[in-house]
Amino acid sequence: MDRYVINGGHRLEGEIKVDGSKNSVLPVLAATIISGKESVIHNVPELKDVDLLIGLLRTIGCKCFFENNTLIVKSNSQLETYIPEKPVREMRSSIILMGSMLARHGQVKISYPGGCEIGPRPIDIHLSGLRRMGAKITEAHGYINCECDKLKGVEINLDYPSVGATENIMLAATTAEGVTIIQNAAKEPEIIDLQNFLNGMGAKISGAGSSTVKIEGVNEFHDVEHTVIPDRIVAGTLMAAAAITGGNIVLNNIIIEHLKSVSSKLSESGCIIAEYQNSLHIQCNRKLKAVEVIKTLPYPGFATDMQAQMMAVMTVAKGTSIFIETVFESRYKHVEELMKMGASIKVDGRTAIVRGVKKLTGAEVKAGDLRGGAALVLAGLVAEGTTMVDNVKLHIDRGYDKLENKLARLGADIHRV
Ligand code: UD1
Repeated sequence: MDRYVINGGHRLEGEIKVDGSKNSVLPVLAATIISGKESVIHNVPELKDVDLLIGLLRTIGCKCFFENNTLIVKSNSQLETYIPEKPVREMRSSIILMGSMLARHGQVKISYPGGCEIGPRPIDIHLSGLRRMGAKITEAHGYINCECDKLKGVEINLDYPSVGATENIMLAATTAEGVTIIQNAAKEPEIIDLQNFLNGMGAKISGAGSSTVKIEGVNEFHDVEHTVIPDRIVAGTLMAAAAITGGNIVLNNIIIEHLKSVSSKLSESGCIIAEYQNSLHIQCNRKLKAVEVIKTLPYPGFATDMQAQMMAVMTVAKGTSIFIETVFESRYKHVEELMKMGASIKVDGRTAIVRGVKKLTGAEVKAGDLRGGAALVLAGLVAEGTTMVDNVKLHIDRGYDKLENKLARLGADIHRV
């Protein structure tokens, strides 16, 4: 089991490039199987989730070559339509293969993903969308069986703008007969990236980034080359690291627009942020102030994937902040661990009240999920003494490519043992 050992108290300073987005590359990888052609994808981050999905693509018959953050996927042979249980259990988002397998082969059997470390994550919206398009879906013995002759374009109103459901339906609809319209679609930047990738290989999709996405089914595809967008959550996490350490850093290879909600909360807290075309300078040389309310919402609202890291920052800000987690049911696993380090936090259902304390102290803590784990690392950067964060491989490596190297390059005292 890998753990981080962090000696707190070092101010972060310097310049760093942000990697490609995990949440963009996963659906893009799923999409590569639709074309039966070659996809060349640049800016692919080296993450555990990416490795898992590449492994899965290989298992079902794709040829994948991954070097220097460029991945080539060839999906020209007949693919296996049974998705084994283990990888789906390890990475819930492999459920995204449902839509692309239906688009490619009209058939898929995949294990039911079940709950995960941030609470129950149902897939009812995915399934009802695919059913509306004509997929016959049966659920038995922990498996979901989907079949269709040819999916039909229809109008689908999502009950909630689910990111995964929007992506799954977009993928399935690329080869459907006629036009599919998704209403109340998720508006996350990753949906736009998926649209760009799919259009690059010959799909006809418009509207991504708005709440109505239109997909005209096509049957012909070609080779595609695509560069994945920068990871707004990794960027946000590094901004939070600068904030909590009173640092001064420049982030390169980012899309400013994607960071607006984080920038606005950190500015409110007292950080000085200068935005350039593809980079950002954040400076935090005074005591941070508590931000009154941070309420997580679908994009462009404050991302649930930044809630834990922002909470770590607020544990040492002056005053009281209120967090309201509206996206996921139980996403406060980091709270108990932050409290072991001296934070003052009270949770009541989906609300957490954080009273800023003068200092945190190093402790042995455990990452309970990916972003919660990142929050503990941030707390460790400022805590007095030594912090040990467990479960690095299990959780933090899923979404951060060697986070310790990035932070150490900026001056943190952190290493993996
Ligand atoms: C994606 C992101 C994740 C992020 C989340 C919200 C990926 C790989 N993961 O997850 O990092 O935290 O968006 O921004 O991109 N829901 C249902 N029924 C469904 C689908 C979702 O009730 O069929 C609920 C979920 O339980 C959750 C909420 O809707 O409470 C949002 O989920 P969703 O937007 O689907 O998130 P994911 O796509 O799983």
